[in-house]
Amino acid sequence: MSSEEEHSQTSSSSPPSSSRPPVSHFIGKKDDIVKAGRMTTMVNGCRDILVLYHQGQLHAMDMRCYHSGGALQYGDIEELNGRLCIVCPWHKYKITLAEGEGLYQAVDDPTAKPLRKYWRSKGVRQRIHNVTEVNGNVYVTLNDSNEAIESDVYQTERYRTGLLKAQPKPTPKK
Ligand code: FES
Repeated sequence: MSSEEEHSQTSSSSPPSSSRPPVSHFIGKKDDIVKAGRMTTMVNGCRDILVLYHQGQLHAMDMRCYHSGGALQYGDIEELNGRLCIVCPWHKYKITLAEGEGLYQAVDDPTAKPLRKYWRSKGVRQRIHNVTEVNGNVYVTLNDSNEAIESDVYQTERYRTGLLKAQPKPTPKK
């Protein structure tokens, strides 16, 4: 049996592609994902995603950081201004788990002492996918919005076959 099952959430008639219902892809058993904490997989033969479990919630996003392709599966999770973020292990960019927004620290007055810093959003930079659980099985529905998102750059075949091989492999977290 294939490791990836697909199921449509609505009817089996053939509407035009623009109005087709989203397809959910089987990712794995929830128990296994909870135990592992996070996993990476290719979905639908085209998208490398990270699925993670944190504080009782499942999240799914593009696996490589929008900044420069960092391996987000090795990133820590931090809460910033009440928002859960994954911290890219490469250059420490912060990405909200729920929306894929890039956060940065800003200051109102760089001459003030002490500096007052705020977390601000750069907007959505990382593509977030919908993840659901049904009877202990976890499914991901790819976010197929036509709007370009920066993390899309690291999802091309050219990137996988060329640039990726040239990068050093990070050490997995223990
Ligand atoms: S690659 Fe993620 S912060 Fe640079």
